[in-house]
Amino acid sequence: MVDTLLLASAQKTIGYVIAVILLVAFVVAILVNIRRSRPEIGSEIELAPNRKPGMDDEELETKKLDRTLGLGLVALAAIALALPLYWLAEPGRQEGMVDRFEEIAINRGEELYVNGAQCAGCHGPLGIGGVASYTLTNPETGAYVDQVQWKAPALDTVMYRYTPDQVKYILNYGRGYSPMPAWGAPGGGPLTEQEIDEIIAYLVSIQLPAAESQAAVQKQLDISCAADAKGNCTVPGGKYATLGEAVFNLGYSDGFAGGAYSCGRCHTPGWSFGRAGKAGGGAMGPNLTGGSELKQFPLASQQESFVSAYPKAGTAYGTFGWSSGRMGSFGTNPNATDPKTAIMSPEQVMLTPAQIAAVVAYERSL
Ligand code: HEC
Ligand code: HEC
Repeated sequence: MVDTLLLASAQKTIGYVIAVILLVAFVVAILVNIRRSRPEIGSEIELAPNRKPGMDDEELETKKLDRTLGLGLVALAAIALALPLYWLAEPGRQEGMVDRFEEIAINRGEELYVNGAQCAGCHGPLGIGGVASYTLTNPETGAYVDQVQWKAPALDTVMYRYTPDQVKYILNYGRGYSPMPAWGAPGGGPLTEQEIDEIIAYLVSIQLPAAESQAAVQKQLDISCAADAKGNCTVPGGKYATLGEAVFNLGYSDGFAGGAYSCGRCHTPGWSFGRAGKAGGGAMGPNLTGGSELKQFPLASQQESFVSAYPKAGTAYGTFGWSSGRMGSFGTNPNATDPKTAIMSPEQVMLTPAQIAAVVAYERSL
């Protein structure tokens, strides 16, 4: 934005300089004129014979008149054409300015992502996902327990699941229980609100095309499960029994997308650092075992809707649920609902309806 401000002020400066030059030239011209005319006073008689004779009426009213009128017409045409052309080009110019603004924000966001805040060190280049070293401590005594590698979820699909406001909240406050630090001033972090917005603009710019994301997920599920028509895995000696279990744990062993598409990273203790405890036993996200979800969502379809289109923070869900805004949507894109303001396409979703149905069935069996 500074460049644009500089540009604007450079334009202003040039304008002022031209105005001042014109004013000075005008004053000088008047002064010169007054001085020149001085000696002429009273010398009309001597001077008169030297003066050129004027045009006669014949010439004045034909050639001269035509020429002057012609020039006037040309000038008028130029103005009449130039003004509409100017106004026609104006919206385009303004739009170009908005694009340029957006471009500057993205470039600065990228600079912060790569160097300034080093998001890339944990989340990978272009947000493909990665890991972060983390020291586990005993929650009671604070004593050192172990050094672990904590999965940092891919951010090249973060706008598939969260709104810019939700991402802003995560960036402002971090995830205190994990290696993800607070970045924004509200959470005691080093970045300004504008910098956070620039990072978000950059994140929006690196979101994967829908087809690419879906193909990557499908390929991964083919390797870890290769589900048959009933949703049972067919990989010999495979880790998972059902498609739902494979989706729930997507990326657990191989780090695919830093676990971004999985549920286990929030709902299973120890999942993010490769020491998964009881599946769905509860971590940052609540415990889903022991039939709790059958109580929360009497119908599987209700649970599917919840997972697919996560309710806005502060709204009720299920029997006694209340959304905190932390989970995000997995089957619809929260940034694609209003076509006028949408920053994403409705196809850019984490999981297909079949994958969501499978993972919900798995959760209801825990
Ligand atoms: C020291 C490593 C580290 C750095 C640096 C870091 N993060 Fe993270 N971030 C993580 C980890 C680990 C998680 C996952 C935490 C969890 O398990 O809930 C995370 C989570 C997130 C999430 C939530 C994603 C989701 O789907 O749950 C977002 C968004 C995010 N980080 C963005 C950023 C941005 C932007 C930056 C740079 C300003 C950044 N992070 C810097 C480690 C890091
Ligand atoms: C970034 C962390 C995170 C991820 C990833 C996540 N969840 Fe959640 N989930 C939560 C949180 C937090 C809640 C509690 C509700 C709230 O705070 O809004 C929740 C609640 C739920 C609930 C309702 C639980 C109840 O009884 O109220 C279900 C069901 C659920 N998640 C399923 C899933 C599924 C399925 C996935 C994977 C497709 C998933 N979650 C991925 C954080 C997460």
